[in-house]
Amino acid sequence: MVDQESGTGTHRLRLGILGAGMIATVDYGVLPGMQHISDKVEVVAIADPVVDRARNAASKFGIPNYYASLREMLDDPRVEAVANLTPIPLHAETSLEIVKRGKHLVSEKPLATTMRDADSIIAAASASGVVIVCSPPDLLFSQYSEARRLLKEDAIGKVAFARVQSSHAGPGGGPEDQAWPTDPTWFYQEGSGPLFDMGVYGIHQITGLLGAAKRVSAFSGITEPTRTVRGGPFKGTEMTVTANDNNLFMLDFGHSTFAVVDGTFNVHASRSPKVEIFARKGTMSIYKQGPKLLEIFRTDAAPGLDGWIEPSSWPRANNDHANRLKKAIMEEHLADCVRSGSRPILSAEHARHALEIMLAVSTSAVEGRVVDLATTF
Ligand SMILES: NC(=O)c1ccc[n+]([C@@H]2O[C@H](COP(=O)([O-])OP(=O)(O)OC[C@H]3O[C@@H](n4cnc5c(N)ncnc54)[C@H](O)[C@@H]3O)[C@@H](O)[C@H]2O)c1
Repeated sequence: MVDQESGTGTHRLRLGILGAGMIATVDYGVLPGMQHISDKVEVVAIADPVVDRARNAASKFGIPNYYASLREMLDDPRVEAVANLTPIPLHAETSLEIVKRGKHLVSEKPLATTMRDADSIIAAASASGVVIVCSPPDLLFSQYSEARRLLKEDAIGKVAFARVQSSHAGPGGGPEDQAWPTDPTWFYQEGSGPLFDMGVYGIHQITGLLGAAKRVSAFSGITEPTRTVRGGPFKGTEMTVTANDNNLFMLDFGHSTFAVVDGTFNVHASRSPKVEIFARKGTMSIYKQGPKLLEIFRTDAAPGLDGWIEPSSWPRANNDHANRLKKAIMEEHLADCVRSGSRPILSAEHARHALEIMLAVSTSAVEGRVVDLATTF
């Protein structure tokens, strides 16, 4: 694309950051990763109603402008895209305003918390001609792109079922060395919770691999009514839990292909893969980190021999770039899609399907029935 200001082919997407909290600023967050994509993206502004946070982040990361509100940032003509890093209940109203004002959007997950809001955001983006990229980013990681390729090539045969682990111990649930730097209380309250915060990862992973689901059946509840922050500046804070923090659900993909997914704040530790897929000719195991990222068990891997195959070079090597960028991989994906005109892998339509599943989990658990899904991506 030719830069309309400079006439060169080196246009950098001018990005505003909305929300100067944890995910904007921590080591694995968005701003520290920006240095690796400075040829594609330029951070020109940051906004947070706690204006000291915006000011401090601007000073730490060399951002030229800071604002106390989204509106002021959207009035800045230099801003052509916004990364929405606000708490979950604010995603919909802020994202809608961003796309209505003709700015491209990177949204933290989930895209919204109602189907109506998700539809409005997608319609407004289409009317404005802007691109939406929605977290989580996992499908950009090579273990998932390779897994998708292998499934498409029928490497393990017809899929029977998958087990997907999509939980952690909850914000503030880790010890001192994993301390939460900001007050994590909002994660446990109605409108947030582990389904929107964590289950969303597993839903994107498994639907990214197997395609859109058709039906949902779920159990959901509150494990304990209060929790105490274990470490960090908010250590000892008593948090009232009003969002269900324990969700287990099953997805039906049709043709007798199923998945079971957890979305809880109750997993302190686990030795299981993130995703395991069991199929008629073998098994596929996908890991988040560690020495192995993808393994396949194949019947007749060699004539008469069943066994595990672990790729020795990929996908680890292919993830070096992603590991450097960390959360900024989303902003790179947006810049690439805007520049090339290609459809995002992390599309808003996929995020809307994931949201429909999450809402169906709640309906299914409350009403004790299987819920049909209508969307696809
Ligand atoms: N913390 C993580 O490890 C993590 C990881 C992945 C995704 N996320 C997602 O990132 C988002 C933010 O999470 P976080 O942990 O950074 O939360 P946080 O509470 O640390 O930060 C949120 C920030 O948004 C600001 N804010 C509130 N209302 C705003 C508004 N109207 N406009 C602009 N800013 C506003 C708050 O003042 C705060 O600084 C959530 O959607 C969360 O699910 C967080």
